[in-house]
Amino acid sequence: MSHAAPLFQPFTFKGLKLANRIVMAPMTRSFSPGGVPTKEVSEYYRKRAASAVGLIVSEGTVVQRPSAANDPDVPHFWGDAALAGWQDVINNVHSAGGVMAPQLWHVGAARNPRTTWTAPSPIDSPSGLSRPGKQFGEPMTDSAIADTIAAFAKAAGAAKRLGFDCIELHGAHGYLIDQFFWDGTNQRDDRFGGSDLVARGRFAADILKAVRAEVGPDYPVIIRLSQWKQQDYSVRMAQTPDEMAAWLQPLADAGADIFHCSQRRFWEPEFDGSDLNFAGWAKKLTGRPTITVGSVGLSGEFIAAFGGESSKPASLDELLRRFDRGDFDLVAVGRALISDPDWALKVRDGRMAELSDFSPAALASLV
Ligand SMILES: Cc1cc2nc3c(=O)[nH]c(=O)nc-3n(C[C@H](O)[C@H](O)[C@H](O)COP(=O)(O)O)c2cc1C
Repeated sequence: MSHAAPLFQPFTFKGLKLANRIVMAPMTRSFSPGGVPTKEVSEYYRKRAASAVGLIVSEGTVVQRPSAANDPDVPHFWGDAALAGWQDVINNVHSAGGVMAPQLWHVGAARNPRTTWTAPSPIDSPSGLSRPGKQFGEPMTDSAIADTIAAFAKAAGAAKRLGFDCIELHGAHGYLIDQFFWDGTNQRDDRFGGSDLVARGRFAADILKAVRAEVGPDYPVIIRLSQWKQQDYSVRMAQTPDEMAAWLQPLADAGADIFHCSQRRFWEPEFDGSDLNFAGWAKKLTGRPTITVGSVGLSGEFIAAFGGESSKPASLDELLRRFDRGDFDLVAVGRALISDPDWALKVRDGRMAELSDFSPAALASLV
């Protein structure tokens, strides 16, 4: 039996029944022309479902606002054609025994350095800033905010209707929801802004409440959060456990069931005096299940991969030490599952010698 056997115990939460603790991390692939997931996209997810991934979180898929995407090949989660594509995806995943959430996304004022494409106006953001001091678009009006909240709720309702097992809200990495959390991009003086994370978290909390009203009390809702921003990796939302509790508890109260705590390296501690990582603290502070992520099974981290850096397979021992201690419930794996659909199967069966390097060249196609 593999030394990673603890990760292959089942997990149940509300109606969610996962065969094991491995989550496919949400990863934008931009293979959905015009926002419509193709048969190749559907096959890509089916393969991971058939190869022992416990929960698949889709690539970010955007809600219905003009500027929600930063690339024309990012999938929509609205409109008949895109939803028919997603119906095929979830049917395929289910037929392979898999479980899946769409990651509902709005990029806000964050732009994509890898494309020159520009989204139609209006660009949505709390204060018309793509990063501190950098104007891009105008602050969202009250009606734009209300429409965006409704768009997230509508997408969540569509996910449930299509048969997805749960949803994830993308509240991380400096995109729209995170632009509200961050005082560097949220300078509003209405109820969506202010000096503390309770105030700047109201946009996310209102989305969670609207989503919850749409999907009902029993449908699992995950929210992904990060301290870091793509605009500035050194930024931290919470400097202390108390600040982190003030950030997370209102989100739990508003309807977040599971916290997906995005780090670039899962082993990095959040605060002095403890080796707990973000997922460890989120679980300790809220009592909710958490997902950890960040360089699991790989030697290098993912931002460097965008710069062309390859990674080698790495030991799972430190991950297992933390998992066995109960720090988190689920473990998300990103790049390793891009290049190898069978990564989870190989780890489950102890075939570690068969794990391969991750090369950024793998981003060029769906395998
Ligand atoms: C190609 C690529 C696309 C990504 N797209 C998203 C995304 O759409 N949503 C998101 O929350 N994170 C996204 N991420 C971050 C991953 O979900 C994950 O957190 C990161 O890759 C770290 O995990 P890893 O070290 O196992 O790759 C992306 C990462 C990669 C490599």
